[in-house]
Amino acid sequence: MAVLGAGLMGHGIAQVTAQAAKYEVYLCDIKQEFIDNGMRTVKESLLRYLKKGELTAAEVDQILSRIHPVLDAKTAITDADLIIEAVPENLETKKTVLAEADKLAKPQACIVSNTSSISITKLASATQRPDKFAGMHFFNPPQLMKLVEIVRGEKTSDETVKLIFETAKKMNKEPIIVKKDVAGFVVNRLLVPTLNEATFLLSEGMASPEDIDKAAKLGLNWPMGPLTLLDYIGVDTVLSICEEMQRELGPKYAPSSLLREMVEAGRLGRKTGKGIYDWKKNKKMPAHEIS
Ligand code: CAA
Repeated sequence: MAVLGAGLMGHGIAQVTAQAAKYEVYLCDIKQEFIDNGMRTVKESLLRYLKKGELTAAEVDQILSRIHPVLDAKTAITDADLIIEAVPENLETKKTVLAEADKLAKPQACIVSNTSSISITKLASATQRPDKFAGMHFFNPPQLMKLVEIVRGEKTSDETVKLIFETAKKMNKEPIIVKKDVAGFVVNRLLVPTLNEATFLLSEGMASPEDIDKAAKLGLNWPMGPLTLLDYIGVDTVLSICEEMQRELGPKYAPSSLLREMVEAGRLGRKTGKGIYDWKKNKKMPAHEIS
């Protein structure tokens, strides 16, 4: 397999591929520092399993030896049977990467996108193999979240859906099939309006960030509150999903001004050290400390 993009999702997808499915996987990105960061995070995650006794040191080494970090797309893609695109959530960026992958891939290979909201049919049009193209949407952190949404584009074949379904199972995931290619698919139609609404609550002064999060944790049994989750997913990612849903589905999905302001200010969440909360050394700090 080949995973294109070693960021928040890509590194975790590569890890699950090598760890659960035991496939050889190329992890490809455009800068050495992105690859180094991705591999560092994979190692940190594997160390957690090692410390808990869920993996032995030898197994950790084997998993790492199955992940091949590379800068060169040709090396990553040429022999792959399945190519998973996990680059930033931007239509043009994804189309460019997918068109290149399509040229380099074997004719029989399938290409999937981990997009959270962009139309699979639109992305498939960047390739010459729309029948062998689908959405394969993982959730953050991919190492722990069981769900994978498999999204059919207009021309996705039944064989492709079956192959992706079986691959997800081998990765120890629980797939669902999304029958219509509509922005947000199933999970983000449910989740993103709630995260957006949490930022409206905050802007309206309804409650502090900590109390909004506490409300969802204790009142809805969410494992983390919506504002923490927003920082965790990335404010830029949530904004772009809102915008895509607004474009496709109408004004009820319009993002809050707070989401836009945070992205303009570079407050993208945990990955930049600051979002709704301040994330010193990846540890969440109270919101009142944000300057
Ligand atoms: N690798 C391996 N193990 C990990 C890990 C990682 N990256 N992160 C956490 N863990 C392990 C911990 O070691 C811990 O193990 P034990 O219970 O055995 O000690 C366990 O997972 C729980 O971790 P924590 O105690 O640190 O934290 P937690 O109890 O809050 O769980 C969480 C972490 C699973 C992420 C949980 O908070 C959660 O489910 N949060 C919601 C995540 C979510 O909703 N994700 C979907 C976002 S939407 C999306 O991704 C798609 C999109 O398109 C936007």
